[in-house]
Amino acid sequence: MPSARQLDVLIADDEAPTLEVLGAVLEAEGFHVRLARTPEDAARVLRDHEIDAVVTDVMFEGRAAGEEILAATRDLRPAAVCILMTGFPRVEAAVQAMKIGATDYVTKPVEPVELATAIRRAVNEKRLAREELPFHDLVDVLSGLVAKSIERVDPYTAGHGERTRRYCKLVAEDFGLDAKTVERLELAAIAHDYGKIFLDDLGFLTKKGPLTPDERREMQRHPLVGAERLGNHPQLEQVVQFVAEHHERWDGLGYPYRLKGSEISRPGRILCVVEVFDSLTTRRSYKNAWSLEKTMDYFESQAGRAFEPDILDTFLRLLGENGEDWLEAPKRDLAEAGLLVPSASGAKASAENVPREPLPALSGRTRRPDPASA
Ligand SMILES: [Fe+2]
Repeated sequence: MPSARQLDVLIADDEAPTLEVLGAVLEAEGFHVRLARTPEDAARVLRDHEIDAVVTDVMFEGRAAGEEILAATRDLRPAAVCILMTGFPRVEAAVQAMKIGATDYVTKPVEPVELATAIRRAVNEKRLAREELPFHDLVDVLSGLVAKSIERVDPYTAGHGERTRRYCKLVAEDFGLDAKTVERLELAAIAHDYGKIFLDDLGFLTKKGPLTPDERREMQRHPLVGAERLGNHPQLEQVVQFVAEHHERWDGLGYPYRLKGSEISRPGRILCVVEVFDSLTTRRSYKNAWSLEKTMDYFESQAGRAFEPDILDTFLRLLGENGEDWLEAPKRDLAEAGLLVPSASGAKASAENVPREPLPALSGRTRRPDPASA
């Protein structure tokens, strides 16, 4: 499988200007592009050339020939991914694409960079599903999926997955988890929020202010959506489980399944703690970064509530040793991503200082209650 920069893409559309624009932008994004204005041209390209991804319109000169092109792709280039360009709104488009065997879809008018992202995502997901990849390749594929999707929508999340991975590894090794499990947890840490990119309205990710109940419900779909998108490859079975668990809570008040205590896997419980830490101590569009003191107070208050006390003890000890560095890390990652780090003083207090997504309001300091009665 070639790297993303070497992917061969066929674009089929009967409108020459569309083809030219998409072709030029995808070339600039590093793809090798071939163009076809008719289903017959597309079939010729598929016969004569290696193709990794086919992007096709549905209608050609008034004829619904997109389906024929997808069928030809399945016959001639079964390893290729197929992306439909459709004028239908999101939900109908998804149904239509699935019906005729497309891997994914983009809605018209097609935004070329979004198309490039969709192609890379589809190729990487297919790769995850069919290959037995070594650990470092899995890291690359999952990092690519997140970097080209969530971080593009919300640049302030730059480095969140990688930092979460690093801290999860430290906690897991401190707990003596075996090396294979630690690797799987690292992969889950990288990919834990992947499902967010498939939510109905990506505006939630950068909304300045609390989510409405409907928005919150939609947002809470992301652990399962992410788990589904990562597929059912046996190699990823536990990774998918940890991704699905990352918003569960020790006291059973999390989502999506309201699992409680040891019903959540230990790696999943580690991910729950670390993910919240990095979210709180990173600036987002809707809040400032929390200080170390405030963060530690918050975590101490959540022992036996949101988080398993033993994991939290370990985490807080590591935080004590590494806290200053960990709090600086998001700023370094933002700078590396080419983003300025303003003070965020314009953010509204109501949106700034609440953990918007994960947790209900505090109601006191309950240090280490018995988990069985929590
Ligand atoms: Fe999440």
